Amino acid sequence: MLLRCLRWIRVKVVEKAERLLLRVLASGPIPRHVAFVMDGNRRYARRTQQAINQGHSDGFVALRRLLEACLRLQIQCVSVYAFAIDNFRRSPEEIDHLMNLAHDKLMEMSQHGQILEEYGVRLNVLGKTALLPEFVQEAIRHVESVTRHNNKAILNICMSYSSQDEMTTAVESAVRLSLEKPNPEDCEITVTEDDVSAQLMTSLAGSPPLEILVRTSGVKRLSDYLLWQCSENTQIHFCKAYWPEFGLFDLVPILLDYQRKIWGRRIS
Ligand code: FPP
Ligand code: MG
Repeated sequence: MLLRCLRWIRVKVVEKAERLLLRVLASGPIPRHVAFVMDGNRRYARRTQQAINQGHSDGFVALRRLLEACLRLQIQCVSVYAFAIDNFRRSPEEIDHLMNLAHDKLMEMSQHGQILEEYGVRLNVLGKTALLPEFVQEAIRHVESVTRHNNKAILNICMSYSSQDEMTTAVESAVRLSLEKPNPEDCEITVTEDDVSAQLMTSLAGSPPLEILVRTSGVKRLSDYLLWQCSENTQIHFCKAYWPEFGLFDLVPILLDYQRKIWGRRIS
């Protein structure tokens, strides 16, 4: 009884601290687009002596937690790296679990009263979705169609994604569009950086410029994620925490650093 009471007090104290932190942060500049490389699920599972699949399932719980914190802060757009094209090289069992998890969670999130409806979030799945199993593609079509009129925020789930693939596709589309334009100097193709930029999956999904990219688990690589979008003004952070244990208290110093730099830029 006493233990239950202490646990209840702890939960209430944490909730209060979170509300306070969110209020303090919300009084400063808020980034429009934050992306996460959700890394470390398997190492977390090994460290906590759980099955690898449980690590991925706990990873989804962390995604939901972080998404809610970002939405409460009115961050317009959140992008997450859920499955790289390269991840198809993992074991069939792990891929199966990730595909089933993606299907179940996409369907769950599309339901009435869930987070996407509550916060007015449009969900986009970005990547070579044709490589995904048909039942996952069906769930994607469903959740994208259910949320397409939501206009308060955007969640980009990058699945079967790589930046090199995204950039190749964007260049192809930009060239095709240039060829369709009436061109006085015949046969000349002009493609600018802006043309390619406009054809990126994130741009077609209506995402604002990327301001913060976070990679968890202590690994300092970008792993072919949003390479074009990481511009001069994107702040990149590498955190030690494994993704399933990453939370608001890890995000706060990153956001404070962003606010300090924005204020610094405004003063100079
Ligand atoms: C990277 O950790 C994580 C993944 C490859 C999968 C990410 C998926 C989720 C967080 C949950 C599912 C999301 C949706 C939308 C259903 P890792 O496996 O590379 O772990 P490691 O770095 O410790 O080996
Ligand atoms: Mg990894």
